Amino acid sequence: MKVQQFSRIGFIMAAAGSAVGLGNIWKFPYMTGMYGGGAFVLVYLITIAFVGFSVMVAEMLIGALGRRDTVGSFERLAPPNQKGWKYAGFMGFNGVIIMTFYSVVIGWIFYYLFEIFTGLPTSTDTAKATFDALVGAKAGVQIFWHTVAVVIVAYIVYRGIKGGIEKFNLVLMPALLLILFGLLAYATTLEGFGKAWDFMFASDWSKINSEAIVRAVGHSFFTLSLGMGAIMTYAASLPKHASITKTAFIVTFMDTLIALVAGLVIYSFLFHEGAPAAQGPGLVFISLPVVLSHFGTLGTVLALLFFLALAFAGITSAISLVEPVVQYLIDRFDMTRAKAVVVTSLGYWLIGIGALLSYTKAWGETFSIGGKPLFDILEYTTDSILLPLGGLLIAIFVGYVLQKDRVYSALEHEMGKTYFNIWRFSIRYVAPVALVFMMLNLMGILKI
Ligand code: TRP
Repeated sequence: MKVQQFSRIGFIMAAAGSAVGLGNIWKFPYMTGMYGGGAFVLVYLITIAFVGFSVMVAEMLIGALGRRDTVGSFERLAPPNQKGWKYAGFMGFNGVIIMTFYSVVIGWIFYYLFEIFTGLPTSTDTAKATFDALVGAKAGVQIFWHTVAVVIVAYIVYRGIKGGIEKFNLVLMPALLLILFGLLAYATTLEGFGKAWDFMFASDWSKINSEAIVRAVGHSFFTLSLGMGAIMTYAASLPKHASITKTAFIVTFMDTLIALVAGLVIYSFLFHEGAPAAQGPGLVFISLPVVLSHFGTLGTVLALLFFLALAFAGITSAISLVEPVVQYLIDRFDMTRAKAVVVTSLGYWLIGIGALLSYTKAWGETFSIGGKPLFDILEYTTDSILLPLGGLLIAIFVGYVLQKDRVYSALEHEMGKTYFNIWRFSIRYVAPVALVFMMLNLMGILKI
């Protein structure tokens, strides 16, 4: 059972630390580029405002009322004849599945942090060669950095809510903000800034299609850390009198702001050099270093700061991906925290190695299923199936299963009657419809 509680600011930073991650700084910018800029951004913003925020309130509510691990919270809050809802709590396990590849990407970032000192690549060809060599051939190097990432995250989680998670977030999050806003301040002085602004905020609807919409909806869940019990697990340690609504609002706001800032920074650099926007996942690993190489020593410093911010963002999110399962093992199996951390970490460390090997030339085939690399399968399954499913279960549980009085008395004093009714409408109708629409579309479009 929980004994530790976050401080109010500690909880906000931890939840924001979970939300602000590779999704904001690595994924959001390249997706914006792939799906045509402004229109994608607008769909993303609308989904966050009308669906993401409501689901975040709902997920925090389950944690704050349940006060247990994810399985325990669902079980405790479900009415006596519906205890099967406890199985929804296994959404907490999505986190370690995400961690299998998330940790590999953090490993790439660590690798780049050191590579920067050997000089930035001056052409796209060399930059691409560096990235491809790492991902396609250097299995040992990747395993090394993946292991470093696993160990750092394990250590922080092992230190617990107060001494680890809260403490590290309170340092890493402000550091991340400082770096990003520093980079933004510099970016505004560049000629590319105006173009970056137009690219992100001038909506060209001709570029939007149903795939872009579905990806924007899916990403708004991923970026807010919704649908797998991360926010729920943290909320079980929410200080008693903290406002759920206010906290959810601050976290949503910070997460969105940081994604937009990251996008503006990257595209300012890119457009300054006249580089194209649609680069895909290699954006920050290939295009950005090349662009920054043209800035001389200053470029090296900027690259260092950028990858440092990326590493911080990745680590604080990773912690929240691991903690739900650790909490589950502690609550359910009476494990010590140390043992729970070791068991969890070993599990995803091993699968993570399979994931990174699936991108290498030597092992690619061995670690592919039906021609798809394990890495992609893990990402697709979590991102496109399990997260929306988790979000749907949360919306249904809070919208239809939890007694209305209970929900009302927990939130009404924070929201007031009108906002409560709007929020409840969103949870009961808007969120489920959006999520079902998204899942159906994905199954049709991507046909895995
Ligand atoms: N939100 C994080 C990001 O943007 C990733 C993440 C952390 C996450 N915890 C999560 C995603 C829980 C889904 C669910 O990188």
